[in-house]
Amino acid sequence: PVLVVDFGAQYAQLIARRVRELQLYSEIVPHSASVSELLARDPAAIVLSGGPASVYAEDAPGVDPALFDAGVPVFGICYGFQAMARALGGTVAQTGRREFGGTPLVVDTPGAVLADLPAEQSVWMSHNDAVTVAPGGFAVTAHSAGAPVAAFENTAQRLAGVQFHPEVAHTPRGQDVLRRFLFDVAGLTPNWTTGSVIDDQVAAIRAQVGDAAVLCALSGGVDSAVAAALVHKAIGDQLTCVFVDHGLLRAGEAEQVERDYVAATGIKLKVVDAAETFLGQLAGVTDPEQKRKIIGREFIRTFEAAAREVAAAEGVQFLVQGTLYPDVVESGGGTGTANIKSHHNVGGLPDDLAFTLVEPLRTLFKDEVRAIGAELGLPTEMVQRHPFPGPGLAIRIIGAVTPERLAMLRAADLVAREELTAAGLDGEIWQFPVVLLADVRSVGVQGDGRTYGHPVVLRPVVSEDAMTADWAKLPYEVLARISTRITNEVPEVNRVTLDITSKPPGTIEWE
Ligand code: XMP
Repeated sequence: PVLVVDFGAQYAQLIARRVRELQLYSEIVPHSASVSELLARDPAAIVLSGGPASVYAEDAPGVDPALFDAGVPVFGICYGFQAMARALGGTVAQTGRREFGGTPLVVDTPGAVLADLPAEQSVWMSHNDAVTVAPGGFAVTAHSAGAPVAAFENTAQRLAGVQFHPEVAHTPRGQDVLRRFLFDVAGLTPNWTTGSVIDDQVAAIRAQVGDAAVLCALSGGVDSAVAAALVHKAIGDQLTCVFVDHGLLRAGEAEQVERDYVAATGIKLKVVDAAETFLGQLAGVTDPEQKRKIIGREFIRTFEAAAREVAAAEGVQFLVQGTLYPDVVESGGGTGTANIKSHHNVGGLPDDLAFTLVEPLRTLFKDEVRAIGAELGLPTEMVQRHPFPGPGLAIRIIGAVTPERLAMLRAADLVAREELTAAGLDGEIWQFPVVLLADVRSVGVQGDGRTYGHPVVLRPVVSEDAMTADWAKLPYEVLARISTRITNEVPEVNRVTLDITSKPPGTIEWE
């Protein structure tokens, strides 16, 4: 792999993704890893990421100079660039000329890494200290107003670095910089493709489970669907999937799982129609946390009963889990195969129903999971689906959940989704909740008559990761079409409103 050494900013995941976009497999490792630990992973190249520290800080993480004697190509970025300069005998100084944001970079001699770049362009900077003297044997290839040495390289030793951030979109030619280093200087060959990931995972799954039986839970979401499809490709009918239909999905989603997904994959699916039970338990409940608790508990109960049946019939030993790479990185885990009991993850399965996990997406980012889903032939709507909360429409009905209200919300939500897709805007937004204010009524007029109906709230948002979000500035024409169609097509709804709150202070969902 290409190892990305994480110096503690948010940039490491982005770097790892950019490297993968060049079809090179990458993994993130903490900066506390020793040189021998790094080398033990047989790295094709190493990228030292940016980080929040100053190399002058007492506890600033450094780089062991031994790393540069190992014959492995190393590329330093921002803090990693400075740490590299220091370890190799260059000078890093507190110049007092900090640079932050888009900054003009002047290329003095292009060398190998900056070969394609124009003499001057904007790059994204974020630094206080600067390299003032490059290490011996290194050519200085660029500078900026605040960084006398903004890029250096020693192609014979396959070492180079830049002060700016090539991984961010604000550095328009950044990907070219990474490409030049990894291909021209490091001499790597692109070999990591959707097809190769599928082949590798299929082999790994077969090796892990042998001829044992495997269980999976489908939710309608992307991750569980792709994970199950991969496992099915590896072991066919040794896999049984369970889909608990809690009756809180949007229009068409249950059918997508039960019909389209099964048709596309040939997966053996056990559908549990538990809508009545869930609705019964939710009757009269208005408190959001109470709703979540009830749904979580009912889900575990229902899944457990189904899992016991399948296990009794087939002797199941493994459970598929759609864990993604960002979760693995954030929980400080490595990339080895986890051997955790299922209830740590699915939450609440009893001890006597403990399975070993199969996690075929553990090394993948979300966009890669989508690409694999598409390659495996899964329904497009499923692969491209926006995030949707586990408790489903129950937390988008403000008030108690009833079948009538679910029907109203489903109809309104379908209109919003159809119009967003028709406008070609699915890729522009993160999520588009439609919320029914079920206990609110307002007066309206329709035809010749006065109406007294419910409002719905449109909550389209843009976001990177759901931690923060902004309301999406959808074109007025699209909003107008959604409003007209909802009030025409959903008789109980006579008012459509738009939520223009960012997160924070609002959350994405209303409950
Ligand atoms: P909020 O509303 O907190 O949502 O801004 C952030 C993201 O999490 C989703 N969400 C949930 N997902 N169970 C889930 O599986 C939940 O109880 C839940 N609540 C919120 C929400 O859709 C958004 O993507």
